[in-house]
Amino acid sequence: MAAAAAVVLLATACTREYIQDVNDVCFQQEVLPIFQSNCTQSGCHNSNSREAGYDLSTYEGILRGVEPGKFKQSELYSVITKTFGESAMPPSPYKRLSDEQITTIALWIDGGAKNNSCQAVVCDVTNVTLSGTVMPIFETYCNGCHGGSAPLGNVDLGNYNGIKLTLDNGSLVGSVKHSSGYSAMPQGANKLTDCQISKIETWIALGAKND
Ligand code: HEC
Repeated sequence: MAAAAAVVLLATACTREYIQDVNDVCFQQEVLPIFQSNCTQSGCHNSNSREAGYDLSTYEGILRGVEPGKFKQSELYSVITKTFGESAMPPSPYKRLSDEQITTIALWIDGGAKNNSCQAVVCDVTNVTLSGTVMPIFETYCNGCHGGSAPLGNVDLGNYNGIKLTLDNGSLVGSVKHSSGYSAMPQGANKLTDCQISKIETWIALGAKND
């Protein structure tokens, strides 16, 4: 029994960067970045703008819209699942959250909406590709601002050509590493982890292919 459990944990560790209990979503690594990337743009729900009273850049601010254990009764869940009307969020021109992101948020609320952080395991930089490794990082941490039809700062990280432009001018690596001379990204949020940055750098070192 114990051996079987250990095998499951190892298998999880190989495919994901964070150890997870079954049904336990990691707030700091999986939920907070979705809100920070998709809801805290200037004029929206950050510590200065607080549209509708919401600052969605912190745990406390997000919790105001959540009924722990009851995702369907939670206002934040209700606005991200609405497909039309003024309260459907994020509003145009920003794109809707993906089904996967909505599920992550629902599971997190269902699990008690805890402010939990998951322990990082060994960083796996084998088999790094754009679609399998780098794009999921951009989708979670960046593309609420840099995807969709009106990407902020004219930086479009939703497709290969847009990403390639930021590589060629040095701004992608400069911004995620918080190098001087570049705007620190993700804007208004924590720096990506060293592991996430090494995955991006590994993909670049392998030729930055559209793979
Ligand atoms: C909350 C919105 C927001 C998020 C999230 C965000 N950005 Fe940005 N980003 C901006 C805005 C606005 C600009 C343009 C103004 C500026 O440069 O600060 C920008 C500029 C940039 C630039 C150009 C920087 C330069 O110095 O020329 C790059 C590259 C970039 N972002 C990459 C990213 C990456 C990669 C992520 C995710 C890891 C990310 N951004 C997350 C809003 C965001």
